[in-house]
Amino acid sequence: MIGMKPAVATHEPRHLSGETLNLLAWHIPDLVAYQHHPDEWWFAPLDDNLPIVRLNRTGLDMLKAMNGHTTVRTLLERYGSKVCGPDGQPGQWHLERWALPNYSLCYYGAEPPGGHRHKAKWDMLLQQIREGWSGRDGFEGEDHLEDFHVHDLKDNAEDDGHFDLIETTVSHLFREPNEALNGLTYGKLLMQKLRRLGWFNPKPHIIVEVGGGLGYVARELGKELLPFEKQSIKYCSVDITKPFLKLQVTRAKAGGWPCSGTQANAEWLPFKDHSVDLVIDNENMADMTPVKLTKGELLSGRGATPQHQEALDWIRRVRLPLGDDLPEDVIFNLGPFRFVAELWRVLKPGGRAFLTEFGIEEGWPAPVKLPGHTEYEVQYSHLRQAVRWLGFHEQYLPLPQFLTMKPDTKVLCTGAAYTIQRFCQAMNRPFVVRAYSENELKQTLGDLLPKFQGTHYHDVADPAWFGLIDFKVLLLEKPGGAPKPTFTENRGYRWYSQR
Ligand SMILES: C[S@@+](CC[C@H](N)C(=O)[O-])C[C@H]1O[C@@H](n2cnc3c(N)ncnc32)[C@H](O)[C@@H]1O
Repeated sequence: MIGMKPAVATHEPRHLSGETLNLLAWHIPDLVAYQHHPDEWWFAPLDDNLPIVRLNRTGLDMLKAMNGHTTVRTLLERYGSKVCGPDGQPGQWHLERWALPNYSLCYYGAEPPGGHRHKAKWDMLLQQIREGWSGRDGFEGEDHLEDFHVHDLKDNAEDDGHFDLIETTVSHLFREPNEALNGLTYGKLLMQKLRRLGWFNPKPHIIVEVGGGLGYVARELGKELLPFEKQSIKYCSVDITKPFLKLQVTRAKAGGWPCSGTQANAEWLPFKDHSVDLVIDNENMADMTPVKLTKGELLSGRGATPQHQEALDWIRRVRLPLGDDLPEDVIFNLGPFRFVAELWRVLKPGGRAFLTEFGIEEGWPAPVKLPGHTEYEVQYSHLRQAVRWLGFHEQYLPLPQFLTMKPDTKVLCTGAAYTIQRFCQAMNRPFVVRAYSENELKQTLGDLLPKFQGTHYHDVADPAWFGLIDFKVLLLEKPGGAPKPTFTENRGYRWYSQR
């Protein structure tokens, strides 16, 4: 989730004097380097508004000397006046910058950032730096998310850039066939799973996809069905961001769906009651309206604004437990509550919905800062209580389990993927950010591969990769569908029974 964003606060180059000279230097672990010439290596500052750092052998030696045993003073004495790269700056110029948050190539301190759990601390350091990028302090909610999607996204909404860099999603990382998904794309695998659940038997007539992003899921869902299976199904894309809709419709058509697109907020779906058979919603509930309620409001049941009152009414209605020690204020997923209530309204009896998003099961949702906007965890024990109160039958499970992913499949670190993309851009070579297995990276980079160092892989289930385990699936079914024949199979014979 690193990337293009509102310009970060600019940092003055660090003054190398006094106590700073006694600090030790560590370069960030897992730095990805690209060797462009025999005497030229590239490194990417964390902030991609800054140019790539190009080093010669001297610069590289200085970086390597940042091993936790060398003081800033020693580095300055050894390299300060030597030219460190083809851009001509001496070591001092680099030493004044590399430890700034927007470079983040190294760290100066009396102690390493972390003792035993070294790596976790580095991750936290980077996390703090990224959080600084949101550009706003505190709570952004209530109106901001919609603003962001309706107004702020016009410029780069029509290519992968936004999703590569700003709000990377699971389905986006797996938009190409992937070893971790049995060689399938996310959308194709999703279709296989929905079929196996019996959701295409009988087939739905109206499918609504909410917040389809760039439309890859629609295309791939369609490709997994035969043309006659799609006949008489209508695919409706609903999105709050107009520029995305165009792509969603184009890609849905490429997947063979008769498709239309409507700009709308999913908290008020533009469909008649009991008119929809199947809803697909991938990773946008965290974008929906959050509300920040005070302890006083929660205890009195009286909200300071109509929106807060609406939230409090939900909490009372579905009987959410407030817990023993309420913090001074909490965040509540008002948008997702409105959304599931809308699903209940628009789905036909027997209609279904597939929802997935990251979230938690205890406590209250926390903000997740992304460049330029903030999202909010979905509190699933709350949301599940709401869907049951509405009358849905529900099933709930982690996304990797739903997709039956092999947890130890190795995938390229997403940070490394961003860095490789930067280097490739500088060379005018195409490179998309996605989940790569070792083989897939080799095929993609070809002759370039040996010139990269520091590319590293994680288990797909490792939280350090993408936190997949935090993504949950909620399967909803509105009771009352026509009873349908079900069968069991025994030695090639099908035994039908009425359910
Ligand atoms: C994080 S993206 C997910 C995109 C895509 N489903 C995927 O998995 O990559 C969120 C999507 O939901 C849309 N969106 C956000 N809030 C929405 C809302 N309240 N109603 C409808 N669409 C919304 C955004 O425009 C965007 O297309």
